[in-house]
Amino acid sequence: MQPALYRAERPEVFEDIIGQKHIVRILQNQIRTGTVSQAYLFAGTHGTGKTSTARILAKAVNCLEGEPGTEGAQLPCGHCENCEAIREGRFVDCIELDAASNNGVDDLRSIIEMVKYPPTVGRYKVYIIDEVHMLSTAAENAFLKTLEEPPAHAIFILATTDPQKVRATIRSRCMQLNFRRVTEDELIEGMRRICEKRGINATGDALATIASRADGSVRDALSILEQCIAAGDRELSRAAVLEYTGAAGEDFFLALTGAVMDGDAGKALVYIDEIVKRGKDSRQILKDWLKHMRDLMIVKYVGKAERIVGASAENIARLRAQAGRTDAAFIERAIRLISEYINLGRYSERPRILLETAAVRLASPDGDAATLQRSAAGPAPSQAASAASGASAGRSPAAQQTAAAPSRASAPSAAPAARTAAPAADDEADAGEMLAGMIASAPREKAGDPGEMWDRIVREVAASDRTFMSLVGRNSVGTEYEAGKLLVIVSPNKLRLAEDKSAEIARAAKMLYGDEVFVVMRSGSIAKSGASETAERMSEAETSRIINEDIDKNEVIEDIQNLFGITPVIED
Ligand SMILES: Nc1ncnc2c1ncn2[C@@H]1O[C@H](COP(=O)(O)OP(=O)(O)OP(=O)(O)O)[C@@H](O)[C@H]1O
Ligand SMILES: [Mg+2]
Ligand SMILES: [Zn+2]
Repeated sequence: MQPALYRAERPEVFEDIIGQKHIVRILQNQIRTGTVSQAYLFAGTHGTGKTSTARILAKAVNCLEGEPGTEGAQLPCGHCENCEAIREGRFVDCIELDAASNNGVDDLRSIIEMVKYPPTVGRYKVYIIDEVHMLSTAAENAFLKTLEEPPAHAIFILATTDPQKVRATIRSRCMQLNFRRVTEDELIEGMRRICEKRGINATGDALATIASRADGSVRDALSILEQCIAAGDRELSRAAVLEYTGAAGEDFFLALTGAVMDGDAGKALVYIDEIVKRGKDSRQILKDWLKHMRDLMIVKYVGKAERIVGASAENIARLRAQAGRTDAAFIERAIRLISEYINLGRYSERPRILLETAAVRLASPDGDAATLQRSAAGPAPSQAASAASGASAGRSPAAQQTAAAPSRASAPSAAPAARTAAPAADDEADAGEMLAGMIASAPREKAGDPGEMWDRIVREVAASDRTFMSLVGRNSVGTEYEAGKLLVIVSPNKLRLAEDKSAEIARAAKMLYGDEVFVVMRSGSIAKSGASETAERMSEAETSRIINEDIDKNEVIEDIQNLFGITPVIED
């Protein structure tokens, strides 16, 4: 069997590394001048070249073509006996350890005992410790001693996807190199090189599509590329890439969101129809769509959002362009609405209708009962649209009820229009019923003090999820209630968790206080007894985590200050 492409194409010398130019420059310079460090921390997301670069460095210091510091030597050569042995994993002086699987003290102890002996065949003993943040505390302690005074012939390369979890005392003894997500241009260039070598004729837009899916990971790019060329043809087009990946990528969510922002429900439904026909799961699309909305919100507030959003610079730029077209209120409403539908989707056998209904509601100016009726009364742009409008017709009693509430008094045309549209298929009645149930629930409590309201909601959610209280409940506080909007401040590092629960929160709020109340969560420090101290300490950790990126630091600090309203503290 052929090895996976990303294995077959592991870079062997510095020139093969895709992207990471800043790191290659530093390492090559150290090798040229004979100033290689004794301990490195390679930090960065999966599949960006940490292990590969560690092996290249191991070759460079052991290459038979010359020693580090030798004038004019291009190290490593990649083909001498030592270089080959390292590539094949049979070089006794290059020791690889995976802390994720061997995290005991014993493995470490045996390494530490061996470290004092000089290398057997090579010039240096190189220890590559992968996922070093997974080492047990005892193992870390044992290791620290060796790191304090390593023998001159030892080089340690620690790799991690999570540098904040590596103890500061270890980090401070290492030269930290941050592996970045590789840009799409670099990915395209790298894939083109590989395709040429293999005699595959790939179009530019095919490679660009793969690159945008890979989101900065070379391994992901190569594994998508492999799937696309596995069919055996020598030509690769964008259409083929879309077909093979069958993915609802960022393009789809940008297009779908663009359509609802334009108020074009018909177009949105056609997009959904296309993607579902390609075999995508509607529940998953709803979840991914929610993430897209969250990403839009983040890029709206954070200048250097790559780390928080987890996307390449190019995808961030696309998100930012889209976020610029709308306001926070729309995104907020979208998040709330899509969360509700994700929740409903759990109990529905026909999640596609929910996806479609969510799109139609978002496409209407304020997504309430009135606007839905309008789309029911108008001509249906497609079969899918009629399903969605059927859903709205099904909830007409609830809609009338809602329209009677003071804040909805401006929607008098709603009810009559709804009565004229009759639900046709079972599917439609099904969704309609569900929506009616969702909307018609009578409030159990009276809205009032924001703190009390939030406490009630927290208790309600915690009743079915006990971790919610300690994880989110104690790290959040309701601060403001106005016109149906309950503002909740969540400590920054808990916001993700809270957002993951937004459907449950929305449901609890609806159940307790009725339709008119929705919860808006923001991150910030919590000035509530007991919670404040932890919250502040957490935000420091969060801050230093982001600061650790070697990106424009001042800009990041400014963004964090603006976003979280805190003063960052830099550790170390
Ligand atoms: N910068 C890169 N240049 C060229 N190929 C790369 C690069 N990064 C990753 N790859 C490809 O992906 C595969 C995995 O890379 P590598 O093991 O170096 O990543 P990693 O950063 O250590 O990932 P992980 O965190 O999952 O261990 C390699 O075999 C190679 O094909
Ligand atoms: Mg690795
Ligand atoms: Zn060599």
